[in-house]
Amino acid sequence: MVPVHVSIIMDGNGRWAQQRHMPRSFGHKEGAESVRACIEASVEAGVKYLSLYTFSEENWNRPVEEVSGIMGLFRTVMAKERKNLKENGVRFRAIGNLSRLSKPILDDIAALEAYTADCDKLTLMVLFSYSGKWDIMQAVNRYRRDIADGKADADSDIDITGFEKYLSTAGIPDPDLLIRTGGELRISNYLLWQCAYSEFYFTDVLWPDFRKTEFRKALDSFENRQRRYGEIN
Ligand code: IPE
Ligand code: IPE
Ligand code: MG
Repeated sequence: MVPVHVSIIMDGNGRWAQQRHMPRSFGHKEGAESVRACIEASVEAGVKYLSLYTFSEENWNRPVEEVSGIMGLFRTVMAKERKNLKENGVRFRAIGNLSRLSKPILDDIAALEAYTADCDKLTLMVLFSYSGKWDIMQAVNRYRRDIADGKADADSDIDITGFEKYLSTAGIPDPDLLIRTGGELRISNYLLWQCAYSEFYFTDVLWPDFRKTEFRKALDSFENRQRRYGEIN
């Protein structure tokens, strides 16, 4: 079976560049080509949702030049891929603590989301300035505000389905397959709630080298997984 939702922790750009005695920014730029390849491979395979961990909340702590380089690259790629996304039926969405982003980036995001709003082959979610703990906290706080505003019932407990409506991924099915490139065996504060039953695929391949063939290998691995959800068959 093809996973409905594939999610990727795109790691290893810096090391890829270092191996070539190049600045880390070179790795990020090359990584953008892998993004394009994985979008294409997703459309070809019939994946419906592709979510990409592009910039974590913790990544704000990197040197200011690297952060601004990534911001600039994000804007460049959004502009460059605009037509391509639309033509391939790819709907773009950005998810994360976007209040930390500058106005020009927010404007670009809003424009691209609007431009691709009616695309329905694949939904591409770019998790930017995102962290799993942030997501859960913002959900709690929005729920609190809804209670204060009388929009949520103060007298009865919220259930799982009710709570999920407050997560930034509301309405999107949980990832079936979570890929992490770059060799680390950790989740780095990614989709903590949503990955409760995801199948994990870890590879040493660095993100700039993760192209269609590698993506298909991950899909093949998923084919052979037996998902039990705690049951016995
Ligand atoms: C992933 O690559 C991209 C971001 C986190 C923005 P890294 O920049 O973390 O690359 P490595 O892990 O240092 O090689
Ligand atoms: C995870 O990579 C975040 C993204 C890929 C956006 P990091 O390179 O930031 O993760 P750690 O620091 O190795 O856990
Ligand atoms: Mg890294």
